[in-house]
Amino acid sequence: MSNNVEINMDNLPKHIGIIMDGNGRWAKKRGLPRHFGHQEGMKRVVDIVEAANELNIKYLTLYAFSTENWKRPKIEIDALMNLLVIFIRNELDRLNRNNVRLNILGDITPLPELPKREVLRAVDMTKNNNSMTLNIALNYGGRQEIVKSFKDILMEIQKGNINIEDLDEDTISDYLYTRNQPDPDLIIRPSGELRLSNFLIYQGAYAELWFADVLWPDFNKSWLEKAILDYQNRNRRFGGI
Ligand code: FPP
Repeated sequence: MSNNVEINMDNLPKHIGIIMDGNGRWAKKRGLPRHFGHQEGMKRVVDIVEAANELNIKYLTLYAFSTENWKRPKIEIDALMNLLVIFIRNELDRLNRNNVRLNILGDITPLPELPKREVLRAVDMTKNNNSMTLNIALNYGGRQEIVKSFKDILMEIQKGNINIEDLDEDTISDYLYTRNQPDPDLIIRPSGELRLSNFLIYQGAYAELWFADVLWPDFNKSWLEKAILDYQNRNRRFGGI
């Protein structure tokens, strides 16, 4: 796939979210076990992080593991956790070279020790990078995130640090995992499914949604550019006229 029209560098989405879907179907189509699809999907993570950074996207959020994904067979969960460790071990140097900061959205406390340790190490070692922020959503759910923010805000109210009268949309944003980040302008979901699946549901209130019939392991820079071009042709009104 090639795109003939140029991307307008003055109208880039600041923050792109991607629901990386279709790994299992990609493997099934080839008669392979599902984890082969995830393995190929991880290679696309590497490609798309690099491509987004080259395109000067400032925030990229990838949905890697949802709070609901624990329902999958243990062998698949183990494979995903293992891929996370491989990704960090193989890519940490490149993330640093490319000045990419790794940040996690979600509660990583229930993760097995090794992936948890590697994730925390990578977050720490990239914390001063400022070309692009790569958010990996891990054990993430949008509703759970909102519940957590309510609890944290209520604690602050109880302690007298926040007045109920001052509570507004910005207060809630400040207590989400994406605090200090712009809301996603564009949410991409490959694989043909047309839903958000609990991804950035508060932050994505005004995001442009982009769906395509391509499975994540087949997603490449051209598809990313196509999504950005389509985004640039949308008329964003934020409720105005
Ligand atoms: C959804 O496809 C994908 C996932 C649940 C996992 C995404 C993980 C990766 C791309 C690899 C590891 C990521 C990192 C950041 C190292 P699916 O399995 O639901 O596909 P299906 O709907 O076709 O079954």
